[in-house]
Amino acid sequence: MLFDKFDNGAVSFANRVVMAPMTRCRADHADAMPNDLMVEYYRQRAGAGMIVSEGLPVSDRARGYLGTGALWNGTQAAGWRRVTNAVHAVGGKIFAQLWHCGRIAHSALHADRSAPAGASTKAAAGCQTWIIDAEGKPVMADCEAPVALSTEEVRGVVKEFMLAAGLAKLAGFDGIEIHGANGYLLDQFRCPVLNDRKDEYGGTLENRYRLLLEVVDACAKIYAPGRIAVRQSPYGSFNDMAVDPEPLVTYPWLATELAKRGIGFLHVFDQDGDWIHDPAHPLMAALRAAYKGALIACGGFDREKSEAILARGQADLVAIGRPFIANPDLVARMRGKLPLAQWDEATFYTGGEKGYTDYPALAS
Ligand SMILES: Cc1cc2nc3c(=O)[nH]c(=O)nc-3n(C[C@H](O)[C@H](O)[C@H](O)COP(=O)(O)O)c2cc1C
Repeated sequence: MLFDKFDNGAVSFANRVVMAPMTRCRADHADAMPNDLMVEYYRQRAGAGMIVSEGLPVSDRARGYLGTGALWNGTQAAGWRRVTNAVHAVGGKIFAQLWHCGRIAHSALHADRSAPAGASTKAAAGCQTWIIDAEGKPVMADCEAPVALSTEEVRGVVKEFMLAAGLAKLAGFDGIEIHGANGYLLDQFRCPVLNDRKDEYGGTLENRYRLLLEVVDACAKIYAPGRIAVRQSPYGSFNDMAVDPEPLVTYPWLATELAKRGIGFLHVFDQDGDWIHDPAHPLMAALRAAYKGALIACGGFDREKSEAILARGQADLVAIGRPFIANPDLVARMRGKLPLAQWDEATFYTGGEKGYTDYPALAS
């Protein structure tokens, strides 16, 4: 099944292996433009049934890291058009991951020096990011305490996502993934520990998911719902998040709301690569019952585990991250049961070609 075609009526992929979204920090921070190296990186990996792009900040203030490619103006969209053309030319598909880092940020990353945007004023303890210091050198710095967005500003964030979705379409992306996972802005709003808001974006589960669902609805005016994915990270604690106290209520509730809207994909990332591989764990079954679209599972998958979760009907597609870094031809290698190269963590975010476009494909 892993190598079978996928088709949901809105979009089709040659196989069920998704390349997971991975920030690689190869863009120039000043213009956040995709460059030739990035075009080549994605072209090399187009054997995936579908690629989810690196997280693309939807505005300057949405940025939380140095050198992330972004999508808030037409020039950037024209740059991404080169990437989508390269992927399409070799038969691949690519979705844009739309991202707002929220409190995982630093004012030095923002052109206007604005403080990180937060659901609340609670800072992310122990979280750091790279910034450029006064002498122009990259240095690690603690993420700064955020300023809580006003209700009006929250509505502005919805508009930013909608604008980015329009630019994604202009750039030729086959769809979009809304990044609602990993402790970034939309996940920060979901979190009942972090979100202490008194307006309609805080309090009940419905209120805490209001921003995400408004973003979904705004983006569905641009892309057919079947071309939209939403990413979540149940049980996740990355970026100083408290684990959701009621995951078996929270995530199926969202899945039901996405199903009502005909959203094509719910992308479930297990940050520990643990519970998602347990056939008896109740969450994937609960999501399956609540959701009508395709479930993408992610976190520590190899060929065997991918086939197992598809066979037991708990996912329709599997997203794979790190192995795609070191194996541009990962799908061909998995299909042929060929050996895999090991990724080098030291070059995940270092910039340049090394550890990015210089992993060879196996000679055919
Ligand atoms: C270098 C790197 C960058 C990542 N960047 C993102 C990102 O931009 N957006 C996102 O949702 N997840 C991101 N992730 C998480 C991956 O999408 C994926 O969920 C994770 O690597 C687990 O899958 P794996 O076990 O197959 O590697 C990143 C992971 C890595 C290793």
